[in-house]
Parts: sequence; structure tokens; C-alpha cells
Amino acid sequence: MAGKIRKWLEIRIGLDELIKTQLTEYKVPRNINIFYTLGFVALAALISQIITGFFLLIYYVPHSDYAFRSVQDIMNKVPYGWLFRQMHAVGSNLMVAIVLLHMLSVFFMGSYKKPRELTWVVGSLMLFTTLTFCLSGYLLPWSQLSYWATTIVTTVPTAFPYMGEFIARILRGGETVSGTTLNRFFALHVTFLPLLLLSFVAIHLFLIRRIGISSPPFGTSGEEKKTWTQYRHESHAGGHPFYPYFVQKEMFMVSAYFVVMFFIISFLPTLFLPEDANTPADPFKTPAHIKPEWYFLAPYQMLKIVPNKLLGISIQIVLVTLFILWPFFDTKEEENILKRPLLRTLFILSILTWITFTIWGRYS
Ligand code: HEM
Repeated sequence: MAGKIRKWLEIRIGLDELIKTQLTEYKVPRNINIFYTLGFVALAALISQIITGFFLLIYYVPHSDYAFRSVQDIMNKVPYGWLFRQMHAVGSNLMVAIVLLHMLSVFFMGSYKKPRELTWVVGSLMLFTTLTFCLSGYLLPWSQLSYWATTIVTTVPTAFPYMGEFIARILRGGETVSGTTLNRFFALHVTFLPLLLLSFVAIHLFLIRRIGISSPPFGTSGEEKKTWTQYRHESHAGGHPFYPYFVQKEMFMVSAYFVVMFFIISFLPTLFLPEDANTPADPFKTPAHIKPEWYFLAPYQMLKIVPNKLLGISIQIVLVTLFILWPFFDTKEEENILKRPLLRTLFILSILTWITFTIWGRYS
């Protein structure tokens, strides 16, 4: 049967040639390392979010009178509803972590350099789209936690003179977070953002395949380094086959991802769903300690300590622009960060600052 299907496809789409050029004869560098699998793990995380999100959508009611109740029903009444909700909630946090690690690894390997500037720019847009996904999804359960965390975040734009109030009002659909905000965030979460992120994924993957994967600057690839004066595909003639050699490593890392996810669901089920996540939203009762999610803590803490709000946001906008356009600022050819003491120091200092601000934000 399988043989017949294969033959049928071979006649119509040239399956054997596709398998050869895209899998078995598509080469990755000899010195490729395990960090190069993180992009694929991020992709697997995204697919898991789409599948679990689809099942949640069957029972979720996007209305401020019913949203909280429908999520409670998913947790307590719908068969395996608790599992899909936990996979989606824990998965959103793990996906952000994996995308951040993928980005750090790409930075450390110098893979953002010519000719991969565009791959970096699209990747950074994917990071911000993923964060917007988390922000919009967070409000949907209509709990105390989601209501007040969204109230804090949607206040941020008000620091801008003239435009700020207007932006906050557009986001919320009024003066405060309300049922209108819920509908706006729901529409963003289930239609606009998936389309946007999937379009970015398609461009990201196209660029990676079109250019060819980069050689890590560590270890020996046995390949001669050529300057990039015109388009060519980086083919790694003496490298390992993408399939099965590299796909096996990717599958191992994807399995590790799900082991971590199911460990958290089994042994730390309240890690991302604390008590305030199980209390219905009450716009008249501000909880004592409400904090944004861990990935927003660093920018949140920074805004808190800079006395002038407008200055704080302006610094962040400059940092974000610098981050997105980084390959155009760092045009040195040397890819090995260990041979660039200034860049290495900047890299370590940025990570330490982010960690410090995150911990400070959590405990202040
Ligand atoms: C949803 C988020 C993302 C997904 C699904 C994703 C997926 C992938 C995949 C499958 C690869 C090829 C294998 C690899 O090198 O790991 C890759 C490579 C790459 N990614 Fe991403 N990525 C994401 C986010 C990002 C971010 C945030 C950045 C940087 C700001 C980035 C920059 C790059 C670059 C420059 C490469 C080329 C690496 C090379 O050729 O060596 N990606 N990505």
C-alpha cells in the first residue's frame, strides 16, 4: 500500500527527487552542534500550541460573562480538557524560553551575519509576535490574574504624550480593560496573530533553505570560508546528511521539550496557573501582588525604576530597534565571538542585566 502511494506521488510530484534534494542529500556542516536544533524545537512548540489551542477553542466562550466559567468547565468537565489547557499554558511559557534560547544561540554562533541579516530580522519579528500571542492569550481566561496583568501592560503606552492615551484606548476599547478588550484580544489571538506568525515562519524557513544553514565558527568544518559577493547556496559538500543524521538530533531535542512540559504539568501544575488564575476577574478588587509574566518582568522593572516614564519607554524602543537591526550595526566579518572581547562582554552583560532585572522585578 505504502509503495503504491509512493509511486502515485512519484509520478505526480517527483517525490524521490524531493526526498533526495531536501532530506538525504541536503547537507549540514560537519561541525554542526546541538544548539542548531533549537529553531526546530521552537517550530514543534508552535505546532503544539496550534493543536492544543484548536481543542480549547471548541469549548471556550469569548464573552466576559462566560469566559471564566468556560475555562473552568474545560478544566473540570471536558474529558482531558485539563491536559490541553495545561499543555497550552505551560507550552506558551516554554515556547518563549525556547525562542529566546534559539536567538541567543544564533547570536553566539554569529549566524546573523551576511548573508543572513534578513533571517535575523524576520526571526526577531517572530519573537515579538510570540510575545504578543502570550499577552493576548493571557487575558482570555478572564481571571483576576489575567485581568490585572493586562491592566498593567495596557497602561504602558499612556506614558507617551498625545498619542499614548489614544493607543491605550484602542488596545482596550475604552478607558479600562473590559469585555470589549476581551473580544479584541480574542480576535487577535485566534485570527490575526496566527496568520502573521505563520507567514513569518514561511519566510524564515524559505530564507534558511535558500541560503543554506551556516557553519558554526567553533570546531572544524573542513570547508573553505568564501566572501559573499553574489548569491550562492551554502551547500556543505562534505557535511552530514540532514536526514537521518540531523533529524534524529532534532527529534531527541523535541522529545526533551515534551519531557520538560509533562514534568511541569505532573509535578508543578500551579507553576503557571497560581491561585489568582482560578479566581474570576473582579474590576473592583485589585489583588495585593500582581506581576506580569516572567518574560515581561525585566522591561516592567526597568520602567518602574526610571523616574520619567516617557524616558523609560523611549530607551526600550531604542533597544528593541537596535536588536531587530543588529546585523546591520555589527558588520565585522569575524563570526567567532570568543575572538571579539568587546562583543563577548556586551553579550554577557546584556544577559546578566536581563536576569538581574527579572529577579528584581519578581521580588520587588
Ligand atoms: C517562533 C520562533 C522561531 C522559529 C519557529 C524559528 C525556526 C528556525 C529554524 C527551524 C531554523 C533552522 C535551524 C536552526 O538554526 O535552528 C532557524 C534558523 C535561524 N533563526 Fe530562527 N526561529 C524562530 C525565531 C528566531 C529568532 C527570535 C531569531 C533571532 C532574532 C531567529 C534567527 C534565526 C537565524 C539567523 C537562523 C539561521 C541560522 C543558520 O543558518 O545557522 N529565529 N530558525
